[in-house]
Amino acid sequence: MLRDNMTETTCTARATANIAFIKYWGKRGDGSINLPLNPSISMTLDEGLAATTTVHLAEQNGEDELWLNGKREEMRGGAASEKSRYIQRTLDHMRALARDQRHAVVVSENSFPTGSGLASSAAGGAALVVALDSALKLGLSGEAMSVIARTISGSACRSLFGGIVKWQAGAREDGTDSYSVQVAAPGHWPELMDIIAVVDASKKKVSSSEGHMATAKTGVLMRERIGFAEEGTARAVDAVMRRDFGALAETIMRDSNSLHAVMLDTWPPIIYLNDASKEIIEAVHEMNGHEGRNIAAYTFDAGPNAHIITTEADRQRVLDMLRGIKGVRSIIESRQGGGPRVIEDPAARLGKPA
Ligand code: PMV
Repeated sequence: MLRDNMTETTCTARATANIAFIKYWGKRGDGSINLPLNPSISMTLDEGLAATTTVHLAEQNGEDELWLNGKREEMRGGAASEKSRYIQRTLDHMRALARDQRHAVVVSENSFPTGSGLASSAAGGAALVVALDSALKLGLSGEAMSVIARTISGSACRSLFGGIVKWQAGAREDGTDSYSVQVAAPGHWPELMDIIAVVDASKKKVSSSEGHMATAKTGVLMRERIGFAEEGTARAVDAVMRRDFGALAETIMRDSNSLHAVMLDTWPPIIYLNDASKEIIEAVHEMNGHEGRNIAAYTFDAGPNAHIITTEADRQRVLDMLRGIKGVRSIIESRQGGGPRVIEDPAARLGKPA
């Protein structure tokens, strides 16, 4: 929603998380603008896993404010987290593009199930860039917004589009060729879905930001992974275009295994999977073997929770399999999402907490 008078503008946007089929892991350069070592491909999820962000621009003197899920976050100085500093950098960059010096109050909330331990930085980064683009009347293209969202959180650059999305790694040092493009709109293969099995809701021990740099610096297998992920991205795009679930599922599972192998190969090792995750891996292979074809694929990010990619036709079979695993605490189902949108409903506009 855009409310405008001479000195104040308020705009709200919503964006959703994405689950990578081929993962981004490892940054090139100094890591500060999230340039990846390899391309990646993902599915944008639905609004069950969304961030809603309101940007309020006002002329009076004051400082920028950032409120995440009801809590004020520092954006400058020693107390500021890396993500908050990157948000401040994005605000400054987009205001400079618009030649608009008003200060900003940013209020962002997640619809993520509380206590699920699922990451939200991709949704939040994309929602912020779309809300700022609208509030500042920049009218940037999806690709241009994707470049900016990447600098907040790498995977955020894929949440700028709906359906199946590819992040091309790019080669330039300034990152202008490292952004995402849509491979297929949700309508191309609407039966695809993600069933998330939450096995541990606690915060991850090693942040993805630290992990990206540690693996890039110390991993030996990582050299092998770059080519593997490039080929995997091409294979995944091909399988999506042909709607070949069997081929897509194998590509997804092999990439997840490759990711967790390079994590373990980091020094000191990074281990995100737990016993329940491993039980799920075995149960998916057993189920696929029993069916005589791949009806589901597991994939794990920087944490132990399983994302099971499947199609509507086999949804019930996957749910039954997951319900048989003791370590599964809750299940979240997500269909494909259509990408970010500016919200027109004034009632949806977020205000900072009183
Ligand atoms: O965007 P980041 O820095 O949170 O990194 C995301 C890394 C993975 O989730 C493990 C993989 C991916 O491509 O989403």
